[in-house]
Amino acid sequence: MEKDFHRIRRLPPYVFAEVNAMKARARADGQDIIDFGMGNPDQPTPQHIVNKLTETVQDPRTHRYSNSRGIPGLRKAVAAYYERRFDVSIDPESETIVTLGSKEGLANLASAITSPGDVILVPNPSYPIHPFGFIIAGASVRNVPVTPDKSFMEALERAVVHSVPKPTALVLNFPNNPTAELVDLDFYAQVVDFCRHHEIWILSDLAYAEIYFDITPPPSILQVPGARDIAVEFTSMSKTYNMPGWRIGFCSGNRTLIGALTRIKSYLDYGAFTPVQVAATAALNGPQDCVDDIRALYKERRDVLIDGLAAAGWQVPSPTATMFAWAPIPPAFQHLGSIEFSKLLLAEAQVAVAPGIGFGEHGDGHVRIGLVENVHRTRQAIRNIKSFLGKYQDVIEKADKQTATH
Ligand SMILES: Cc1ncc(COP(=O)(O)O)c(C=O)c1O
Repeated sequence: MEKDFHRIRRLPPYVFAEVNAMKARARADGQDIIDFGMGNPDQPTPQHIVNKLTETVQDPRTHRYSNSRGIPGLRKAVAAYYERRFDVSIDPESETIVTLGSKEGLANLASAITSPGDVILVPNPSYPIHPFGFIIAGASVRNVPVTPDKSFMEALERAVVHSVPKPTALVLNFPNNPTAELVDLDFYAQVVDFCRHHEIWILSDLAYAEIYFDITPPPSILQVPGARDIAVEFTSMSKTYNMPGWRIGFCSGNRTLIGALTRIKSYLDYGAFTPVQVAATAALNGPQDCVDDIRALYKERRDVLIDGLAAAGWQVPSPTATMFAWAPIPPAFQHLGSIEFSKLLLAEAQVAVAPGIGFGEHGDGHVRIGLVENVHRTRQAIRNIKSFLGKYQDVIEKADKQTATH
């Protein structure tokens, strides 16, 4: 009997598993682990959204199968969001679809449009479903650097010249998980121009559209004229409204891609539970001060974390978007790589972070710190990290001297 399934063989064991197992053991031993490892919002969904759910669920008609591509009211609410936020008009009938979280949409669109052996361009490091959605679908993934500058465009050029067959799709994700990098509309315009010319589909993940600080709001690729000839964009309720468990996201843009996703989903699911969709509609159409509050909370945590780490001797760039700090491993520990460093931090400081290698080989010099612990616990974590770094002070000074002489 075949037990070595082809698809499963292409999925490496979960990279975070080792650190997670250690975290579980430490907790079982009674240790208080301060956990920055996950990108899982810790705050409750705003009350008016929860109320809409509980009100709607009283109506037994909502208990039936829902609509696979999303109830019309929710698709209209997404179109209204695009109009007011990006000045982009979207046809709710043909240019947007509701997904069971953006992750599901990404994975199913990948399988809808991919033939085995297709070459797909994916940033590295990246959120795991970006490469693995396509790997599950049988594609070959070619990495491109995540830095949104000249090197990115050069990597695209090289990919088109050297890939056989030529790439069929490109994944983008700005603001980026895990690096928190951002791009402007000029960048999107260049990429759209390039991909239109080379007939490459673009799947852009805008999950962090509304989680930004001290900057102008991140743009949508659909603002670029002609983008919808080749691009779709994924947005999500998870981070904007603290609704990660509700599993609601959207895919909007190119009709052919939306059509493909609609078709495949019509075979796979009956849509999200109707009360969840009604509550999501209320979230998008209702008061948006809850989103300001969510942003303010992450910003406060970010400032406490980044200032505190700097004072403890760990210089980490301050993210201007997302709910993550992408922290370079301090020089004295670089040689360990991100898994061993994360394990050391857990053992010595009772602080859990996500090792950068979990996001791809180019992430191994970093760890990702999620802004998912409150300010009080973040301060405690900083104290722990400070005494951990203090303990290794000699090692650090030696490494600093070595760096300075090279
Ligand atoms: C970049 C990115 N895309 C998508 C997702 C998944 O979002 P959803 O909850 O909508 O599936 C996440 C979640 O962390 C993410 O970081």
